[in-house]
Amino acid sequence: MSELPLTNVRVKSMTLLADSIVSLLLEALDGSDLPAASAGSHIDVNLGGKLSRCYSVVRRDGAPKRYEIAVAKDARSRGGSRHIHETLRVGDILQIGAPRNLFPLVEDASLSVLIAGGIGITPLWSMVQRLETLGRSWVLHYAARDRSRVAYISDIKAFSEGSTNGKLHVHFDNEHGGQALDIGAVLRDVPTDAHVYCCGPQSMLDTFEAATAARPAGTVHLERFASTQHQGDSQEFTVVLAKSGQSFEVAPDQSILDVLLENGIDVPFGCMQGACGLCETRVLDGTPDHRDSLLSAEARATGQNMLICCSRSRTPVLTLDA
Ligand code: FES
Repeated sequence: MSELPLTNVRVKSMTLLADSIVSLLLEALDGSDLPAASAGSHIDVNLGGKLSRCYSVVRRDGAPKRYEIAVAKDARSRGGSRHIHETLRVGDILQIGAPRNLFPLVEDASLSVLIAGGIGITPLWSMVQRLETLGRSWVLHYAARDRSRVAYISDIKAFSEGSTNGKLHVHFDNEHGGQALDIGAVLRDVPTDAHVYCCGPQSMLDTFEAATAARPAGTVHLERFASTQHQGDSQEFTVVLAKSGQSFEVAPDQSILDVLLENGIDVPFGCMQGACGLCETRVLDGTPDHRDSLLSAEARATGQNMLICCSRSRTPVLTLDA
């Protein structure tokens, strides 16, 4: 279980926003205000048992009495989005963690350029609302494969039309011969002191990282909304726990975390998808195969820490400080 304190909330409403995207309004059981969530924050949502996922809070300015999250149904879902779309009902009780922000907005930037792919709009939509409140300049590029897959589009269009600080550009791949948004072109003339943000699928983030490689450190921000844990070959390896001296085999279809929990080892965890950081563990020997969506390129290169819910080993044996 997550180490964070959990709060019971009720699903107040569920709304279909677009093809296979549903929003959930969550409220405290006693109707009290939930803690404020800064733009870019996420909450860990416990969906029952060990099923836990993190979702961006779609913050709206004003008293944060409730949280709104939006969930796209993932055809490869291991239970999280499928459970929400197929099983969860209005009135159900869930447990959530306090909001945490691993994708914070720089509020004093002269210009913020935000690029969203599909459901990656959720943190960026709250950032745009915050920037408008602050009177800061923003440009939002919202891309999706087609018009049936865009959440909040009418709200965002109306918002941008009433904005004095920002602009919205929308791109649908199927209306451009199947071509994805040209992120290089989008960023080409953006001043280097602007802050640029991206949240979307892996292919979009890879392009964004390449297109921003020469930008000044600290001005480039991205958040992945799905881990890459299923990418690449997975081999069996041995994990050794230095403190107890125990060792376990990790099969190709298991995570280190799965194996430790199955063997009664008490380790912290939250999202189980490489996004929340709760399972971060120090590596004493061996080379991790990072498959999370959280650690920076610099942190990965050192190999000193890893997220054991999804990352694996490049060496036959991996020794952890656990
Ligand atoms: S449990 Fe969230 S990153 Fe591992």
